[in-house]
Amino acid sequence: MASLVILLGAAATASSQYVPMPWAYVQNEPPVQVKVNAGVRYQTMMGGGCSGAFGVACDQTGSRGLSAANQQLVSDYLFSENIGGLSILRNRIGSSPTDGILGSCPASPSAPANYTFGSDEDTADSCQLKLTRQALKANPDLFVYADAWSAPGCFKTDATDINGGFICGVRGSNCTHDWRQAYADYLVQYVKEYEQRGIKIGMLGAYNEPDFNPVTYASMDSDGYQAKDFLEVLYPTVKKYRKDLLVSCCDATGARQERDILYELESAGGGHLYDVATWHNYQSEPKEKFNTQGQPNLQTEWSDGSGNWNDTWDTTGQLAEGFQWALYMHNAFTRSDTSGYLHWWCSQDNNGGSGSDAVLIRLQGDSFDVSARLWAFAGYFRFARPGAVRIDAASSVETLYVSAFENTNGTVAIPVINAAHFERDVDIELAGCNLKKHTAVAYLADNTHNNTKVASYQIRGSGFKVSVPPRSLTTFFVE
Ligand SMILES: *[C@@H]1O[C@H](CO)[C@@H](O)[C@H](O)[C@H]1NC(C)=O
Ligand SMILES: *[C@@H]1O[C@H](CO)[C@@H](O)[C@H](O)[C@H]1NC(C)=O
Ligand SMILES: *[C@@H]1O[C@H](CO)[C@@H](O)[C@H](O)[C@H]1NC(C)=O
Ligand SMILES: *[C@@H]1O[C@H](CO)[C@@H](O)[C@H](O)[C@H]1NC(C)=O
Ligand SMILES: *[C@@H]1O[C@H](CO)[C@@H](O)[C@H](O)[C@H]1NC(C)=O
Repeated sequence: MASLVILLGAAATASSQYVPMPWAYVQNEPPVQVKVNAGVRYQTMMGGGCSGAFGVACDQTGSRGLSAANQQLVSDYLFSENIGGLSILRNRIGSSPTDGILGSCPASPSAPANYTFGSDEDTADSCQLKLTRQALKANPDLFVYADAWSAPGCFKTDATDINGGFICGVRGSNCTHDWRQAYADYLVQYVKEYEQRGIKIGMLGAYNEPDFNPVTYASMDSDGYQAKDFLEVLYPTVKKYRKDLLVSCCDATGARQERDILYELESAGGGHLYDVATWHNYQSEPKEKFNTQGQPNLQTEWSDGSGNWNDTWDTTGQLAEGFQWALYMHNAFTRSDTSGYLHWWCSQDNNGGSGSDAVLIRLQGDSFDVSARLWAFAGYFRFARPGAVRIDAASSVETLYVSAFENTNGTVAIPVINAAHFERDVDIELAGCNLKKHTAVAYLADNTHNNTKVASYQIRGSGFKVSVPPRSLTTFFVE
């Protein structure tokens, strides 16, 4: 098992010359000019994350043989600030009589609801309670996003929590009762159950992919007009309970699909009824700014989903490889001002099978493998912490992708993706930064490094000169 000490590599120090890294490729062009300017500011970052929904939290909390020590180690890999750097856990609010918090339906919306939350700490909430506790140990500032895939069936037009259907009470529904308030109360009750167990939930969502209705698992339809009809009940209910509990909308299947819902929501007069626009990257990638009314946007679920387990960084440019994920994140952060990025599942044990690309960490009994995708997340989120503000960063060449983030304490993270197949010299020029130590440290992710510290620099004047290896993500942490 790999040790927790992942900051390997000898550090070199230099002032105004390029520090050669321990590899050599030929560059046939002048140094790339990178300009970072803290005077031009964009979105505030929320963080990176993953989910233990649909019972995979049980795998990570020991149901298939992962020992207690390795359970915590896997959580540390994902959520420790010094390893994976993730800070968001997306929990699924169950909706069936067995995985939700309502065993049976009240007779009418005004009858009292009989909520239940498992009493066994290890298995309650499909093991998500235990996973949340382990993640909190790895990261005490963990942000929990509680998200429902559907309302309980008895609150819906199709009387089941699978196969789409609408919440009773929204336009286009045809039920005897209006169950909107009951569903809003149900969602808030889930947050209260965690609160009673000492865990603060940061954001609440009523939808998962409302533009898609799978027959076989929890799902519920909504367009933006119907979302307005429900959010006008949910939003005040949430704010009455706790002002700083954020409300999301609406975890659509793609960036474009989310834009459509937001457009309708705003047309219906509900553009102010959510705090964070949440979307998935399955059906479409973000290409432009989101049409919010100033609210941030967050990519809350994605994985290749169709492939076998793949833990490589960059071999053939395959979708699930780490290098590609670095580019996906760069594009979302810079084109669409996205505030964070969540992988679909955190981990899963495939019971002897080869495993899938839907997870960041593959579990096999008491051992585990970490995908290079986690090192792409780490290259951003270990160094650009929640609350960091993205600042302007420009590169003089197309195949060197640069972004920059100023942390709340003034330190600056500069993730640099070199998509070229040769090593590159880069001049990084800083403007408007309020540095204290005037040092930069380079952390490298590529085929042979996991965000390993590879070099450090003294900054004299307004910048420093570096060199970055081919097909890599190097994050410069500037103090
Ligand atoms: C509430 O639900 C629990 C578990 O589903 C059940 O045992 C109990 O009888 C119910 N109470 C009422 C008042 O219906
Ligand atoms: C109510 O709407 C659902 C979902 O659209 C539909 O399946 C059902 O037939 C409708 N029922 C009535 C009585 O119109
Ligand atoms: C990951 O995918 C690439 C490209 O298809 C392939 O070359 C590599 O062997 C895969 N890695 C694993 C561990 O399957
Ligand atoms: C880096 O990740 C690879 C792939 O999971 C693994 O083989 C290696 O042990 C890791 N190294 C460290 C230092 O964690
Ligand atoms: C500033 O914040 C970053 C990110 O949380 C942290 O890594 C760094 O140690 C902090 N620096 C100081 C001087 O507090």
